[in-house]
Amino acid sequence: MKDPVRVVVTGAAGQIGYSILPRISKGDAFGPDQPVILMLLEITPALTALKGVEMELIDCAFPLLHGIVCTDDPMVAFKDADYAFLVGAFPRKAGMVRADLLAKNAGIFKVQGAAIEKVAKKTFKALVVGNPANTNCLILAEHAPSIPRKNFCAMTRLDHNRTIGQLATRAGCTPSDVEGVCVFGNHSASMVPFIEAATIKGKPVREVIGDDEWIAGEFIKTIKTRGGAIIKARGLSSACSAANAAIDCMHDWICGSDGKIVSMAIMSSGKYGVPEGVFYSVPCKCKDGEWEVVELDASKQADALKATADELFDERKTRLSDYIFDPMIADAR
Ligand code: NAI
Repeated sequence: MKDPVRVVVTGAAGQIGYSILPRISKGDAFGPDQPVILMLLEITPALTALKGVEMELIDCAFPLLHGIVCTDDPMVAFKDADYAFLVGAFPRKAGMVRADLLAKNAGIFKVQGAAIEKVAKKTFKALVVGNPANTNCLILAEHAPSIPRKNFCAMTRLDHNRTIGQLATRAGCTPSDVEGVCVFGNHSASMVPFIEAATIKGKPVREVIGDDEWIAGEFIKTIKTRGGAIIKARGLSSACSAANAAIDCMHDWICGSDGKIVSMAIMSSGKYGVPEGVFYSVPCKCKDGEWEVVELDASKQADALKATADELFDERKTRLSDYIFDPMIADAR
């Protein structure tokens, strides 16, 4: 039996937390032979609810679950951590503009990044789910300068999976028949679902669907507005599909994507015309715990790719300079 890995889940008493914890404990993220110790971080008022979640996890008697720590202290949660799902975030409230949301969350991810820097393992890897995920991920990485930036990723896998789900439904095939889709950019309305290199049962998507008008119109709109449509129908935001996407993303990153293209928002590096400095979703393949960017021909979408990059640079520049250009962090780098 392998030694257990320490897996942090922030916002563990929330909706996504409730869906994701049994999946991690069952081996869906790190493999069927990898024991885990769950390090669950919540805000103080949610600790009682978290206790209830802990009781249920104990009652599941998962063989791979070798321990549970519940805390409201990031320094305890991230101590010797191997991996983290950063789900907890401050929700948008009535009257808040996006800039307020960014600033509020920047404070949370700054504190958690600083704790990671001090107490997590240097091989630590983090997937940021809490919104605005791309910019929260940037702040987290900036405050943990001794952890390689390639070890941070923001989640766009839900958008990726939604793209597959819509194509499979339209084509009347199963999701596993659809390969090679990806989503570029920010996890926001500016994202760019990309299907030009994708296939259904080995044939080009456009050929199988045979309806360019649907692809340019309803299909793209459905992907971009799916979160809102789920809130409207369910009265609550997506939780089971978000948790599933987080599991898929972490699993493929750590255990390998089996040669398949997946979407991951990783630190930009000049590829696809996006200079270094933001967490930007690109097509990747993963092997042995590392991702590699796949180069597809997206030249026809260049304007849309730039627009979603500009949005991320704007988030970085206009609201967050206090958090990102902290001289103490710059010195430590
Ligand atoms: P929720 O409101 O049910 O749960 C969030 C939990 O985070 C709460 O229990 C809250 O107490 C906790 N929390 C807040 N601040 C915290 C802090 N500083 N430290 C630790 N815990 C903290 O929300 P839900 O539905 O679980 O969603 C969580 C986040 O995931 C939201 O920001 C949501 O927008 C985002 N999301 C992202 C998606 C993506 O594709 N990237 C998809 C769906 C949701």
